[in-house]
Amino acid sequence: MHILAATQFTHAQLDLLFARAEELRNYTTPSQRKELTELHKGRQLCSLFYEPSTRTRLSFEAAAIKLGMGVVSTENAREFSSAAKGETIEDTIRVLDEYKFDIIVLRHHKTGTAAQAAHVSQTPIINAGDGKGEHPTQALLDAYTIYRQFGRLDNLHIVMGGDLANGRTVRSLAQLMSSYPNNRITFISVPELQIGEDIKATLRKNNTPFKETMDASAAFKTADVVYWTRLQKERLTNPAAIPEARFNIEPEILNHLPVHAIIMHPLPRVDEISPLVDSDPRAMYFEQAGNGLYIRMALLDQIITNIL
Ligand code: NCD
Repeated sequence: MHILAATQFTHAQLDLLFARAEELRNYTTPSQRKELTELHKGRQLCSLFYEPSTRTRLSFEAAAIKLGMGVVSTENAREFSSAAKGETIEDTIRVLDEYKFDIIVLRHHKTGTAAQAAHVSQTPIINAGDGKGEHPTQALLDAYTIYRQFGRLDNLHIVMGGDLANGRTVRSLAQLMSSYPNNRITFISVPELQIGEDIKATLRKNNTPFKETMDASAAFKTADVVYWTRLQKERLTNPAAIPEARFNIEPEILNHLPVHAIIMHPLPRVDEISPLVDSDPRAMYFEQAGNGLYIRMALLDQIITNIL
């Protein structure tokens, strides 16, 4: 199956995925790791990235290799694939289909491209981020991180801040969390960077209460999860026009945050979370990135074994 949107999974599927991720992270000894490389030997992953990436591409490729798969990869397809010569994504995918990969992981700068690719693809496509659209596997690892911390995905106050208009990770996660009961979301941003109307419509439909505000300290007081994001400069025509987009998390604001809360960020961080926050026990962003490896291993495993 294609993985295109965070909300395509049932809650039962997510439970199974998280359970598998939990299992896979326990293969730690050299002999267990070797055993894991027998699992999907002879299978191949193609990673096709038209936009920069560190975590998503490397964790998918590492996940594949740890499961014994082979990996064929292009990290700058915008410049170095035939896209630069004018080839359509459909044609590129038709050709990759001929090479009989088991899974194609695709990141693209244009919203909707993953769906476009999936439309013609015989091979399962995983959307690894499409422009300002979605980043479903990030939402999976985010939800997995929240689940590991709280043992649930409902009854939570999630405070999401930063560039909500252009960041695809908040869009995917907000929709996913809204599919669980009794969550509420507070969006912190300047008016220019507010979350899209389409996401608000989804939250209303799901009866997920939400609020838009610039008062981060007040929101932090009752937060369970703080999810911060960077200004998506590459998606703005004039980033300098938004100087007040700086809701930086400095240690002082953490005085407002409950001790049980966690601070998340999809990374890369630029300057919106001070490095002084890193040593706070609530800072979860590096562990969160680490969880991405296990979620992606579980995802590849369950796609190949037709569980998903
Ligand atoms: C995010 C992305 O690519 O949308 N990065 C990631 O995959 N962790 C967030 C970002 O680039 O700001």
